[in-house]
Amino acid sequence: MQDRFETSNHSNPDVPSEASDKSSRRDFMVKGSVAASTVGAAAMHVPAVHAADAAAANTELVRIGIVGLGGRGSGALSDTMTINENIKLVATADIDPGKATGILPRLQKTFGEKVSVDASKNYVGIDAYKRILDDPEIDLVLMTTPPGFRPTYVMEAVQAGKHVFAEKPSCVDPTGYRTCLAAHQLAKENGTAIVTGTQYRRQTNYVEAIRRIHEGAIGDVINMTARYCSTGIWYRARKEGMSDTQYQIYNWMHFVWLSGDQIAEQAVHNVDVMNWVMGGPPESAYAGGGRFTRPDDSEMWDNMSVDFSYSGDRQVSFMCRQIRGTQSEVGNRIYGSNGSATILGSNGGAMIYDKSGNEIWSMKGNIQDAYRQEHKDLVDSIRAGNPIVELKDTADSSMTAVLGRTAAYTGQKVDWSFLTEESKQDLFPADFDYEGSRPESSFAVPGETKLI
Ligand SMILES: NC(=O)c1ccc[n+]([C@@H]2O[C@H](COP(=O)([O-])OP(=O)(O)OC[C@H]3O[C@@H](n4cnc5c(N)ncnc54)[C@H](O)[C@@H]3O)[C@@H](O)[C@H]2O)c1
Repeated sequence: MQDRFETSNHSNPDVPSEASDKSSRRDFMVKGSVAASTVGAAAMHVPAVHAADAAAANTELVRIGIVGLGGRGSGALSDTMTINENIKLVATADIDPGKATGILPRLQKTFGEKVSVDASKNYVGIDAYKRILDDPEIDLVLMTTPPGFRPTYVMEAVQAGKHVFAEKPSCVDPTGYRTCLAAHQLAKENGTAIVTGTQYRRQTNYVEAIRRIHEGAIGDVINMTARYCSTGIWYRARKEGMSDTQYQIYNWMHFVWLSGDQIAEQAVHNVDVMNWVMGGPPESAYAGGGRFTRPDDSEMWDNMSVDFSYSGDRQVSFMCRQIRGTQSEVGNRIYGSNGSATILGSNGGAMIYDKSGNEIWSMKGNIQDAYRQEHKDLVDSIRAGNPIVELKDTADSSMTAVLGRTAAYTGQKVDWSFLTEESKQDLFPADFDYEGSRPESSFAVPGETKLI
């Protein structure tokens, strides 16, 4: 029996491995008439999709805009264009003027007319995303910026009546979490989709293993171990002429208001699996960790261990780490009253064992298929008039990561109810200025960092 995780390093996949009528186009696509510009704006009610119309229009063109044309943005485009027919990328938005010219020709070479972006629709700048939301031709927006922008951008997209694909994590603080819950609710009222980038929820071996666990294959789930331990992460040195804010967005991984730290940015995949197995978010967290190897101006820790307590006295021991020269382990062990299960990251497979440690079931899985499946499910659900709205689950998991981080940073035991209902934590700069300065970066010190 396997008594520990196999080495399985799930790396971020940064590689891409006509109708032209306007206003009357496709009744089955739900549109907002105006893009609301603030999160607090009154909810817009766009008409719900009618299933009968949708069935008749099942192969209608879906026009896509993307916000954030980086590694995952180009990966998501490649995934959706590989798996879906009758879709077309028609607009892009990025703060970096070089992204579209760098990425689109490559995508066009592979996907031909699925990439059809007029040069005037390669929007650039910090407000470029608004041009995508304002564009009545766009049905579906892929949100693949750094996480700190996500809650607001997703909410504004829903208010504009767009269908959304939103990468993970959904949020990096309690304020963003509440925005996500509101966006989820509004999308349901609007009849618009929100599918999220938690691809394991669509990876066959994960789905089958967890279904079996929920059906009692290992008895009652008692506890679980989850790890996302890898060897490092990129660091982008400041370029001449960048303002503080521009630099932090460029090197976003290392600033907590943008990435949420490793536990939210990367390990949220495992945190999501924890919540999936356990049937919802935990009640509290107690945690430790620190930093040995981060560059001086990075705010990130490089290791964190969290004990999450779930209802029914069930515990998850969670660990994440990014330190060069250490052993990578990415996966989950689930212990039940009548057996156990191992679900490994990436393509590592899933196994179920009986009480004596004999393997009684196993299945391989393919993460690349899962990346594509989320885009197929999204487009299919739009065309069927039954749009998937799954932001709440991913926001819950993102918030569980924030719970673990907050417990680690403060050195306090932190309750889910406090963080979700009372905490005032809002990491997005109140004085956000793209051209402006930012306070000198610092990192959390337990005992000094306050629980707010
Ligand atoms: N599901 C997965 O397995 C997976 C894998 C990798 C990354 N991701 C997620 O995808 C997101 C993007 O990660 P990445 O690796 O592509 O990062 P990246 O740095 O490669 O790309 C980010 C892009 O967004 C642009 N950008 C930044 N702020 C913007 C703004 N306000 N408006 C418009 N454009 C903006 C940047 O210029 C850049 O092109 C992150 O949330 C990350 O966690 C998910």
